[in-house]
Amino acid sequence: MTAINQVTDLDVRDGIAILTLNSPPVNALSGPVRDGLHKGVKQAIDDPAVKAIVLVCAGRTFIAGADITELGSGGPQGASLTDVQDMMEGSSKPIVAAIHGTALGGGLEVALCCHYRVGVASAQFGLPEVKLGLLPGAGGTQRLPRIVGAEMALEMMGIGDPIGAVKALEVGLISEIVDGDLTAGGVAFAKKLLAEKRPLVRVRDNDARVAPARGKPEIFAAFRKAHERKNRGFLAPEYNIRCVEAAVNLPFEEGLAVEAKLFRELLQGPQSAAQRYMFFAERQAAKIPDVPADTPLIPVNKAGVIGAGTMGGGITMNFVNAGIPVTLVETSQEALDRGLKVIRGNYENTARKGKITQADVEARMGLIKPALDMQALADADMVIEAVYENMDLKKDIFQKLDAICKPGAILASNTSALDINAIAAVTKRPEYVVGTHFFSPANVMKLVEVVRGGKTAKNVIATAMAMSKRIGKIGVLSGVCYGFIGNRMLFARTTQSNRIILEGAAPARVDKVLTDFGFPMGPFAMSDLAGIDVGWNPKTSKGETLRDRLCEAGRRGQKTNAGYYDYKPGDRTPVANEDVVKMIREFAASKQIRQRDVSDEEILQRCLFPMVNEGAKILSEGIAIRASDIDTVWVHGYGWPVYRGGPMHWANSIGLDKIVARMREFAKDDAAFWTPAPLLEELAAKGGGFK
Ligand code: 3HC
Repeated sequence: MTAINQVTDLDVRDGIAILTLNSPPVNALSGPVRDGLHKGVKQAIDDPAVKAIVLVCAGRTFIAGADITELGSGGPQGASLTDVQDMMEGSSKPIVAAIHGTALGGGLEVALCCHYRVGVASAQFGLPEVKLGLLPGAGGTQRLPRIVGAEMALEMMGIGDPIGAVKALEVGLISEIVDGDLTAGGVAFAKKLLAEKRPLVRVRDNDARVAPARGKPEIFAAFRKAHERKNRGFLAPEYNIRCVEAAVNLPFEEGLAVEAKLFRELLQGPQSAAQRYMFFAERQAAKIPDVPADTPLIPVNKAGVIGAGTMGGGITMNFVNAGIPVTLVETSQEALDRGLKVIRGNYENTARKGKITQADVEARMGLIKPALDMQALADADMVIEAVYENMDLKKDIFQKLDAICKPGAILASNTSALDINAIAAVTKRPEYVVGTHFFSPANVMKLVEVVRGGKTAKNVIATAMAMSKRIGKIGVLSGVCYGFIGNRMLFARTTQSNRIILEGAAPARVDKVLTDFGFPMGPFAMSDLAGIDVGWNPKTSKGETLRDRLCEAGRRGQKTNAGYYDYKPGDRTPVANEDVVKMIREFAASKQIRQRDVSDEEILQRCLFPMVNEGAKILSEGIAIRASDIDTVWVHGYGWPVYRGGPMHWANSIGLDKIVARMREFAKDDAAFWTPAPLLEELAAKGGGFK
């Protein structure tokens, strides 16, 4: 065995060179990895004793891509990826990539420059660059379509999800699935190649798989159309599509030139910078300074959920999807049946789309144990309360849970705003009480705010965070304050959006400004969805607020087919209503609020700057550990466009000094609301940004 460098070994056994990369955690293509590959392959090619080369990786995975920390950070050090790939593809000796874990991005692009690929059954293969606001910039856009064809390449690059080994074998991306030891399998395959005198296959040389799409622009038009809504505002999906078009219509080298040009443009643009920032932000969120990574976890093998409404049902699905049985408790058989019916309906829908089988539907439903008595939660390891927001009710439930649940069980509340400490205080185990705030729809949205009470134990926090990951969510730790990180910032936005409509901009206009910014929906469509009457009391309502008036007029949101907008029965599309605009105008007049033309720019600033300001307060109060946690909350809980990187990243990108200056102008009318937070002011004065 020869050490090529600190991350690369070369071992020649019986005419086969085994080149092993070992660069934890994921063998990303950093300078040393590229250097090691370059020198190692060259040495093997130059060694007359070597007849074939097997490339394999140590650790959890094959190369998982370019080193994202290096992208956009100036000129990379060491051998370029192109040098490495040219040498591999041009090698006179066959090179076999032996793949386990994930061959992603640049990793798959390296494998595509090998003459053959084999993989273990659990291996995954993908070009996920689009998720980083990029496209595969190392020839992948031109090579992958030449193996899998235009349509599948569009899927793999335009959406970015990986495929498994069975599919990869079926489409010819790999030649064999290896059972048992991968290196031995790779070597055996290489020997077979030599024995059978198989040719050196260079992916670039064969156009047969792309030829059928030539002269068929409808293939691309259909893909664009199918993903139009999801891709709104993003540049990278379109650029990936253009690269596949180039692969279909242009000679290989010209296609590469298109890829290089579009890659550079994306890499240097703000969208990819934001998406790469979010990649690390999401992973950073799991790190809690005073809760070490090796904190022992509490085993959670059985969960309980109280409340089978929208939130409780969604939360139940999350656990069940991860194979964790759930006891689902309701107060009446009717509510329980209704909740189970919705869950089943959701699964049946997923099955209809072909994403799970009917057997999966039954298996998942089978993991739910319905119950009408909280006593059924006695053996649960973790219980999540998901009833409506009422402190007395929650206190009552936690008192009962404390008496029923076994010692050491975690008692979690899905409250979206209420004081976890007050809830914990009614139990004899406040250290086992934690907030787990899911976002609606809970089976879809990726965020869980894990709320740390004053007494929550470290192993409980660690378990709640780990549980979030286990059920496919991103956990972000929040301290206790009204609304935690996300809703507290939302309240700041709502204050202004409510004010802006009184000043003369119609709800539809405010919503449009925010959807144009990239949110999936604006504040008023969101209010209609949530229900305007949440927290409204018909008995005490006296038309004193606009909400009172809307609710009194029966406009309570989507559920009444009328709110800020009108809705046709069974249709969630908001339709603007002139009567509402009139109602707002009259209400404003009754409060002596002068209506005027509010510009789109002002709407955006007044909706978003207060969020940045509130974020600054949340940071200085220690409610959020870091600015990137706030960004993660907003991207994954509220649909802040990921290509703008969350409110704090966005604020940095436009300049905190500019935000403070504008806030001071707004403060002339409303100093109490618009006074910049000390941290925001301090950073702006220094010319800095949130870190
Ligand atoms: N570059 C740098 N660091 C990376 C990385 C990469 N490509 N991929 C993962 N990491 C780091 C993570 O930041 C994390 O670091 P941390 O422990 O300090 O937080 C560590 O590796 C482990 O990552 P995960 O926590 O995500 O581990 P998982 O096991 O859950 O997932 C994975 C592993 C599936 C490989 C996932 O990390 C992943 O999807 N990585 C990104 C893959 C990707 O996007 N590749 C394309 C890169 S762009 C490219 O290749 C451009 C090319 O076309 C030129």
